[in-house]
Amino acid sequence: MSAAGIRETSASPGLAEYSDAAGAAATGPDLAAWRGGYGHGSVGYAFDNDSIHATEQHRCLAEMLDPITTARLSETGIGPGWRCLEVGAGGGSVAIWLAQRVAPTGTVFATDIKPTHIPQRPGLRVLAHDIVRDRLPEASFDLIHARLVLLHLPERRRVLRRLTEALRPGGWLQLDEFDISYGPPLAMPSEGARELYEAFLAAKARMFATAGADGSWGRQVPEAMRDAGLVDIDAAVRLQVWRAGSPGTRLLVHHTFHLRERLIDAGMTDRELEEVRAVMCDPQFMAVSCPIFSVQARRPPT
Ligand SMILES: C[S@@+](CC[C@H](N)C(=O)[O-])C[C@H]1O[C@@H](n2cnc3c(N)ncnc32)[C@H](O)[C@@H]1O
Repeated sequence: MSAAGIRETSASPGLAEYSDAAGAAATGPDLAAWRGGYGHGSVGYAFDNDSIHATEQHRCLAEMLDPITTARLSETGIGPGWRCLEVGAGGGSVAIWLAQRVAPTGTVFATDIKPTHIPQRPGLRVLAHDIVRDRLPEASFDLIHARLVLLHLPERRRVLRRLTEALRPGGWLQLDEFDISYGPPLAMPSEGARELYEAFLAAKARMFATAGADGSWGRQVPEAMRDAGLVDIDAAVRLQVWRAGSPGTRLLVHHTFHLRERLIDAGMTDRELEEVRAVMCDPQFMAVSCPIFSVQARRPPT
């Protein structure tokens, strides 16, 4: 790994390994602008793509959010030849959708600190890249998208400014983010179940705050985009009703496993985690999702 964190040797999961599907290694002048960095990274992304629970996390996020995300991305007019950046691509479902839309002449760069879950596809170039530490090419992209990444990063406003600079004049930025300060139960199997579910959400909020996340980031995005110099800001907000088996409910169940140690540190017990899992799997469970913000803006044309 280089000092900047971009993996470029074939000895470890390297840049050669994360090459585009046409077989060309993701090297060359294109990548010079990604090298070098700021030398100080983000303190505490709470999840881990190396966890055995990461695949379920990515599956739930894709099922729950891809229809919202891709409908919004379509509004930009994305099409063949566009050059896009998907930041913190996770399981890669949105990056793959973008690559299909820009084919056959466009390129999508999918980055992540741990990019091993992103599949190889034509037109998709996968990079190990830390959006806090590593450089970005300037004025390069027609479209940049990030979902549920900046929420976790204490440096989110600095990252937002860097994403803005990475857009070509007139280019689009779309951030899809949660506001986890809202998400009430609608119908619970019992009063005890309601209290337990609310205690679980509160512990999760405390845990994310400890890790450096900002649970209300979703509602701050439009103003933060304006402050970063973006224009034509447009926000869409969605709520879902979650029942047992809904992707959003399965995501919460997954949290009880993936975030177990952090939730215990935040005051939950293993017994309570087991019980709240049972509550969320009960056919009588019904809750409102947290608000899902999808905010678009453009870099001013020069
Ligand atoms: C909550 S997941 C969301 C994944 C995907 N965007 C989605 O919505 O399905 C956040 C992703 O951001 C990545 N990530 C966290 N910190 C990052 C950083 N500093 N630079 C790049 N990616 C990062 C994580 O590894 C993870 O894959």
